[in-house]
Amino acid sequence: MFIVTGASGKLGGLVVDALLHLVSADLIGVSVRDPEKLAGLASRGVRVRRGDYDDAKSLRHAWEGARRVLLVSSNAGASGGDPLKQHETAIAVARELNVERLFYTSQVSSSAQSAFPPGRDHAATEAMLAASGLAWTALRHGFYADSAVGMNARGFRSGTLAGPEDGKVAWTTHEDLAEVDALLLAGRQTFDGATPLLTGSEALDFTDLARMASQVTGRTITRQVISEDIMMENAQGAGLPTSVQEIMLGYYRAALAEEFATVDPTLERVLGRKPRPMRDVLARELR
Ligand SMILES: NC(=O)c1ccc[n+]([C@@H]2O[C@H](COP(=O)([O-])OP(=O)(O)OC[C@H]3O[C@@H](n4cnc5c(N)ncnc54)[C@H](OP(=O)(O)O)[C@@H]3O)[C@@H](O)[C@H]2O)c1
Repeated sequence: MFIVTGASGKLGGLVVDALLHLVSADLIGVSVRDPEKLAGLASRGVRVRRGDYDDAKSLRHAWEGARRVLLVSSNAGASGGDPLKQHETAIAVARELNVERLFYTSQVSSSAQSAFPPGRDHAATEAMLAASGLAWTALRHGFYADSAVGMNARGFRSGTLAGPEDGKVAWTTHEDLAEVDALLLAGRQTFDGATPLLTGSEALDFTDLARMASQVTGRTITRQVISEDIMMENAQGAGLPTSVQEIMLGYYRAALAEEFATVDPTLERVLGRKPRPMRDVLARELR
């Protein structure tokens, strides 16, 4: 069976949609914390079982008969939790079940030296995969285009994208990444270990996004560079948790260091078409 975790989330849900075009529904199992959320998939013939990264027993049951598993990275870090413990649990269950190949959603910043906290977690998880003895693929996803919209939601509304100095980012859509993940999970192409970077085809900083957003909305949207201290004061004032503040600060530092800037043709090659451009994302989200 092909197991997809995180299927109640945006990426995992899109992977299941794409996988349903590649393999029959009875070969797909989803592993989610709340199976009731996915009653629609169950009615389409997909096996829906409860699987929580904090509960190895639930994963053993949810992954029963698993041949290939997609482990969607945990988002626990943003709420102060420990994603590494959760990934360790999931990798141990994959070993117990003799999974043929374990796929993991990593990111372009995966490095023990990354200024971006999730980049360090991805590197640590890739190291666990390498030591696991399993066949594994780390899908080095480009930075989600949706994150650019989310991080600047207030700025797009007010007309000013305020933040510290940043750098170019090869923004990539969930839809394109999910399609590639499904193709690889289904075995249409194999990458062993970390994939090349799976990115969109242009790198844009927040000044570029402000200009593009002005064009698609017809409003004037500008970019304002503020100090890290002011950003952190604003974040504290808005009541953002410390873990989120650290991720925000890490984002700007890593972007400035060009950790997210590389544009790589692999995603386009595997998809067999151009990735969706950021302009389309902004037009969809901001109009
Ligand atoms: N490439 C990037 O730039 C980028 C940016 C942001 C995040 N990410 C990573 O990519 C992942 C997927 O992104 P997304 O947009 O699909 O996020 P999302 O919509 O928030 O989905 C996260 C999924 O993880 C599941 N999950 C959380 N804790 C879990 C646990 N203890 N056990 C089992 N499942 C658990 C959630 O299940 P519930 O429905 O039960 O909550 C949900 O299905 C994120 O979790 C994050 O690690 C990558």
